[in-house]
Amino acid sequence: MILILDLGSKFSRFLGRRIRESQVYCEIVPYNYSVDKIRAKRPEGIIISGGIPTDVVSVKTLDREIFQLDVPILSIGYGAHITNEIYGGISTESSTNDYEFKEIEVDRGCILFNGLDERLSLWLDDGYVFRDIPKGFKSIATHSNKVVGIEDGRNKIYGVKFHPEIESSRDGGKIIDNFLFKICNCDRKWNMEEFIKDSVKYIKDQVGNRKALCALSGGVDSSVAAVLVHKAIGENLICVFVDHGLLRKNERKQVEEIFRGQFNMNLTTVDAKDRFLSKLKGVVDPEQKRKIIGEEFIRVFEEEQKRLDDIDYLIQGTIYPDVIESGMDGKVAVKSHHNVGGLPKDMNLKILEPLRQLFKDEVREVGRLLGISEEIVERQPFPGPGLGIRVLGEVTEEKLKIVREADHIYRDEIKKAGWQDRIWQYFVALPDIQTVGVTHGKRTYTYTIALRAVNSIDGMTAQWVKIPLDLLEKISTRITDEVPQVNRVVYDITNKPPSTIEWE
Ligand code: XMP
Repeated sequence: MILILDLGSKFSRFLGRRIRESQVYCEIVPYNYSVDKIRAKRPEGIIISGGIPTDVVSVKTLDREIFQLDVPILSIGYGAHITNEIYGGISTESSTNDYEFKEIEVDRGCILFNGLDERLSLWLDDGYVFRDIPKGFKSIATHSNKVVGIEDGRNKIYGVKFHPEIESSRDGGKIIDNFLFKICNCDRKWNMEEFIKDSVKYIKDQVGNRKALCALSGGVDSSVAAVLVHKAIGENLICVFVDHGLLRKNERKQVEEIFRGQFNMNLTTVDAKDRFLSKLKGVVDPEQKRKIIGEEFIRVFEEEQKRLDDIDYLIQGTIYPDVIESGMDGKVAVKSHHNVGGLPKDMNLKILEPLRQLFKDEVREVGRLLGISEEIVERQPFPGPGLGIRVLGEVTEEKLKIVREADHIYRDEIKKAGWQDRIWQYFVALPDIQTVGVTHGKRTYTYTIALRAVNSIDGMTAQWVKIPLDLLEKISTRITDEVPQVNRVVYDITNKPPSTIEWE
């Protein structure tokens, strides 16, 4: 395995994904992970993944002992800066914030560049260069006569100012592979078939013939976790699907058909619509709505657990990005309010998180290998509070119905036009306003539907999608024709920031 020490770089995840694509297992840990813990993981190589220099991470904060572990080290960006200084070199650190692909001349004798040309195009901010190289190191890469790569070949320590993990399909990917296979001698062992086999065995050994409970939401993570655990322990897995009445059209039916029908799983649906709606009556504040929905969800789930009695395990669909976020000293903002599915620790159940090691696209691959349909595997994110935060203001049965119908039409038209794979997330929101319109010569005073479509990598930032105007027109016409309570449709053209993706 390869251990990535993260200095707060937003690129560490790309690096992690890139390494796993090469079928090598890797983990991302914070820069201050202790040397003892590093040793215990027995990495075949370490990558120090740098980001923008901050006050928090400086030369002093990285434990020098890491360099004495006799494990090859590749340090990148600001990581290379620190490596250079730890060995007594001098690095300039005036970022020009001018990251782009630049021509870099490399020493083809260095294993890192094995099989590559002498001139490469790599992503670099040339404000960061090495001014003075420490003893024992030599230059292996330059840009405009400035040193941007160093190596201590004897101890297998490398520092590069450019970022090979960006657009790694290009030269950068080959550099990473050279580090993995020619310097660290890793084997290509990590793949999802093996992962499934190992996990099924592990879960079987762990759970034995005791029972496990899983809150199934129909989202990608909980669905894949449930099917994987079901493969291991069969009917001893009990899935609970809470219908809080804030679901999209046909969602409950689809979940039941797939998990009960196709996979023959032990699935209980709890019809809790009335409970949720009565708790939400008169509530307009979005955060309060979230809180109510989250708490009520837990109450319903707890009641189910009590009813079922002899359960020992709780299955959770935690995936690797969640693990990284919670391990990073709170440096990465975790949206606590998003964890509606986060069940209380005092349920007295042992937690089993079978997808803890996986990135999202690995989860999807596991899902496909397990036979889960594309419809679930490629599902766009759907917030835990569901339509409760897409009906702005007070949530009522009538408004939910409007959102459900309009959303169904929107999704249908996007699919028909072949746009569904080009949009990360799209949905409708129902603003709490009524406006004047005219239908068949008669004045109307009814609702407005807002269409939202964004592209994003992780939901932290997002760009609105330029859906063709004639498609927008078709969607708008269908909504106003088919949903009588709507006389106006608007399209949201704001990015995040300054907006958020959801309207509440
Ligand atoms: P925002 O609106 O914060 O959304 O830009 C970013 C992503 O998170 C989803 N989202 C939620 N997910 N519970 C969830 O499980 C929530 O309360 C929640 N609020 C927003 C949103 O759909 C988008 O994918």
